[in-house]
Amino acid sequence: MFRINENYLKLPGSYLFSTVGKKARAFMEANPDKKVIRLGIGDVTLPLSKSVITALHSAVDEMGDAKTFKGYAPDLGYEFLRSAIRQEYASRGADIAIDEIFISDGAKSDCGNIGDIFADDVKIAVCDPVYPVYVDTNAMSGRTGDYDQASGRWSRVIYMPCVAENNFSPSLPSEVPDVIYLCFPNNPTGSAITKDELQKWVDYANEKKALIIYDAAYEAYISEENVPHSIYECDGAYTCAIEMRSFSKNAGFTGTRLGFTVIPKALKAGDVALNSLWARRHGTKFNGAPYIIQKAGEAVYSAEGKKEVKEMVGFYMNNARIIREGLVSAGYTVSGGVNAPYIWLKTPGNMSSWEFFDYLLEKANVIGTPGSGFGPSGEGYFRLTAFGTLENTVEAIERIKKM
Ligand code: MLT
Repeated sequence: MFRINENYLKLPGSYLFSTVGKKARAFMEANPDKKVIRLGIGDVTLPLSKSVITALHSAVDEMGDAKTFKGYAPDLGYEFLRSAIRQEYASRGADIAIDEIFISDGAKSDCGNIGDIFADDVKIAVCDPVYPVYVDTNAMSGRTGDYDQASGRWSRVIYMPCVAENNFSPSLPSEVPDVIYLCFPNNPTGSAITKDELQKWVDYANEKKALIIYDAAYEAYISEENVPHSIYECDGAYTCAIEMRSFSKNAGFTGTRLGFTVIPKALKAGDVALNSLWARRHGTKFNGAPYIIQKAGEAVYSAEGKKEVKEMVGFYMNNARIIREGLVSAGYTVSGGVNAPYIWLKTPGNMSSWEFFDYLLEKANVIGTPGSGFGPSGEGYFRLTAFGTLENTVEAIERIKKM
């Protein structure tokens, strides 16, 4: 008889951003006259840049000509893109070989799929709050124990609180995890980690033989000097860390889909190289990101492409400044928005995160994301994204100030 993966039944409700979307739709249906502004999900609003569009057009033309047509892409990625990525790492002093880079359809898939190569019973540690994909996907694989609705905690997850009291920076856990998920600049708090702090994590992971999954999706937003763009800027990271990157937030590929994972060959569990395991997994379950999209990704690393990324990031960071300064002047306690496109605020008057979501939607017709959706320590906080249009961002803040 057919049976299901019962781990799915333990998952609470729906995926965070599906719940937010559902609530927003219900409000808009009930209030068709209201102009609702979305500063919830971190989805970009600027169009793809000129060099990306040019690369896409020319790749489409190649696909329409028998002489240049491409079928299946190499399952681990085209060499032209992996080589551009390798050079980008080299420019930051990291020595990453082409066969240590795996191209994919985005960092979200990689974050979720990487668990395929872990043992069933590894114990994970996560920053709390954090991007929900790490915990949810491990829950789907049955690694997280049981979910307690009241506390919002899984029994087999090591939570590392990131709250105002510790400046949103996790401490080394007292219980030793097998896998440590770190996301910096952080989604959702917008906090960053200094190179010295990250070095402590790398040393800890090497000492305890733990694996770090380093999600660097927001590295393009780093504005401060002492903040590392890659974990491989730290000594010893090649033997303990996997890094994931995305083209979504720097180059606006949220709808175009492209990302990559770096697994150094020196990274081993016993004498098994994780690089070979992931190559086996990737080659079996993935047929490669489309040629035209990988050509677009290559354009992001051209001199012109890099300039365009800087402009896009600058545009969103101006939004971040408007949100941050506006909220501060309205009396909110705010963090983030300096090395990341997310602003993290304390909800006023001890409102819960979801109460504030309803309040903001009702009073200002602005959608944000409840902090508790990112983990139990996110309760009482709220996230606004800087990825909106300038006009909407300014208007949303004006409305919030008047609330
Ligand atoms: C977010 O809003 O946290 C992100 O956009 C979600 C994602 O990148 O998948």
